[in-house]
Amino acid sequence: DLCLYLLSTPLPVLLLACVLSFNVDQKNGLSFSGPLEDMFGYTIQQFENSEGKWVLIGSPLSGQPAKRTGDVYKCPVGRGDNTCVKLELPKNTTVPNLREVKENMTMGSTLVTNPNGGFLACGPQYGYMCGQQQFISGVCANVSSSFQILNSVAPAVQGTMCQW
Ligand SMILES: *[C@@H]1O[C@H](CO)[C@@H](O)[C@H](O)[C@H]1NC(C)=O
Ligand SMILES: *[C@@H]1O[C@H](CO)[C@@H](O)[C@H](O)[C@H]1NC(C)=O
Ligand SMILES: *[C@@H]1O[C@H](CO)[C@@H](O)[C@H](O)[C@H]1NC(C)=O
Repeated sequence: DLCLYLLSTPLPVLLLACVLSFNVDQKNGLSFSGPLEDMFGYTIQQFENSEGKWVLIGSPLSGQPAKRTGDVYKCPVGRGDNTCVKLELPKNTTVPNLREVKENMTMGSTLVTNPNGGFLACGPQYGYMCGQQQFISGVCANVSSSFQILNSVAPAVQGTMCQW
């Protein structure tokens, strides 16, 4: 039972009020902060593992300007510390034998929790080179309940002709 408030730093701007899928309880409101310019708070998912409850927060422009890949943060709930930690998903989100262009992949645009534990974090603008030409596909990281990437899923990547 929580009400989530997302605050941008450094300006204390109320970015998002209560997330409707949560049971709203004003007294126990939580706040998490992250950079507004990275679109921190674009996606939000409740999550639970053996360590306890979390809120997963997508930040699809994270890493800008130098390495704008997007990422997902894990934010602990009910453990006395509201500090969110970036999961660094783009590094291990990789399709073998492909010349990848991870910049602008907008990782964290979609978050889908898996009923059997873990979640999928997706970036719809994952790029890869096919010859001299850049193609764009969606890619998802299949993340375990302990926040490790199990595999990457990119069904739209064209056949073997683009691989090297
Ligand atoms: C990423 O997006 C920025 C801003 O739109 C653009 O300037 C840059 O060229 C893009 N990078 C790639 C590798 O597409
Ligand atoms: C994610 O990993 C789990 C465990 O290995 C597997 O059962 C599941 O099929 C994977 N999901 C996708 C979309 O690859
Ligand atoms: C990425 O891979 C490294 C090396 O295998 C591992 O130590 C790290 O935990 C992985 N991170 C994620 C988010 O899977």
